[in-house]
Amino acid sequence: MTSATWKKYLLWFANEHVEFRLPPYWVVELPSEKAVRQIASRSIGLRCCLELWAQAKTEEELHMNVKAYPLELMKPYFKPELSFKINVETFCNRQTQAEKVAKIESFSYLPLEGPVRLKDPDICLQLIEYYGLDSNNIPEKPYELFFGRWIADGQRDVITKLSLKTRKFIGNTSMDPQLSLYMANQALVQNGDLVLDPFKERDKDESVHSNMQQYGRGSHYLDVIVADAALPLWRSTFKLDSIITDPPYGIREATERIGTTKNYQISDHHLLGHIPSKVEYGLQQIYHDLFRFAAQHLKMGGRLVCWVPVVRDDYSEDKLPTHPCFQLLANSEQVLTTYTSRRLLTLEKIQEPHEEYSRTEANTLMGDFRAKFFRYGEEHRKQRKLRKALAREAYLQSAAQREEPTDGESQDRDSSSSER
Ligand SMILES: C[S@@+](CC[C@H](N)C(=O)[O-])C[C@H]1O[C@@H](n2cnc3c(N)ncnc32)[C@H](O)[C@@H]1O
Repeated sequence: MTSATWKKYLLWFANEHVEFRLPPYWVVELPSEKAVRQIASRSIGLRCCLELWAQAKTEEELHMNVKAYPLELMKPYFKPELSFKINVETFCNRQTQAEKVAKIESFSYLPLEGPVRLKDPDICLQLIEYYGLDSNNIPEKPYELFFGRWIADGQRDVITKLSLKTRKFIGNTSMDPQLSLYMANQALVQNGDLVLDPFKERDKDESVHSNMQQYGRGSHYLDVIVADAALPLWRSTFKLDSIITDPPYGIREATERIGTTKNYQISDHHLLGHIPSKVEYGLQQIYHDLFRFAAQHLKMGGRLVCWVPVVRDDYSEDKLPTHPCFQLLANSEQVLTTYTSRRLLTLEKIQEPHEEYSRTEANTLMGDFRAKFFRYGEEHRKQRKLRKALAREAYLQSAAQREEPTDGESQDRDSSSSER
């Protein structure tokens, strides 16, 4: 296909989880509508795609550009048998119905011949006005305007379909559906891929299967293995397409692994039914084991997609866990509290592990999140308490000053009281 047949398309994104997507819009050139639909069929952050007919900084310029768009490219959509509607959307601003109608009518020069149909029209034309990102500082006129023919919506309705409110089994730390979809996309999961989550929440073993059945994906389920992620039980040649996981942070669930600090032998008599003891499984060790496991068991080019908790004031990229077999492709923040967040890392396996890599530690700069979480939490609480105390004191002082009579006031009061 020659570049002459490529067209401009507008990719319009939702204003949610902004760290996980491109800026609110993106103008791209693509070879066909099929390519646009393929992108839309996979994208979670995408609201819709338009075949871009015009882009401008002002309304006048926009209409000029629409009129300059080659008529022969529009004509196929302006047939009497094709119903149509025009949509108006604003980003970071509201508009009244009357304003919307006025904007729709401003396109009356288009030689649209078919009937208007608001529900499921054959052709949907769309005006999008972009008012920037600062909802506290909305300009009077939009920064950018776009007009084009709607091609496809992204997959945002899947977020509702996977809602935790209607899910059969949920746990304490079930992943937000939108983020879980981003995770699967970051891992480039395809039909037939072998994907592992080594840190599944411990609940009823059938819960994953039931949830997958609920979404019509029961046949994609392999199994659940109840095992300690610190003691992988896989054959060394076993390969996965991707690993997608949210390890325990030690805040809402314990970070433990099988082990003991004591030195003892379990007798054969007690072996059956023996429940192994557990020891603390520090976050650094968890990522060390996870990276080593992923280096061994991911196929070349396979992806490890995992969350890492951080204290925001203490964060810098050089504190993230690293491994010589992995290249960091993406790192997006989800803010959790005023002082903590977690980062979704996407890593690609770029080489097979050598003997010496097995000793490579995950970056030790990461420190102990749990200890930091409580230390920063305590500091944060103290600061908040101090701020409140200061604000209360300032209020009481100003109230006292207001009540304290000035000389003139005291005379007035004195005189009024003497009148009584
Ligand atoms: C943050 S949760 C992840 C939950 C997951 N997003 C889900 O929806 O099921 C981490 C889970 O790892 C599990 N876990 C903790 N220590 C483990 C270990 N040593 N080996 C395997 N899993 C462990 C715990 O059951 C915990 O619920």
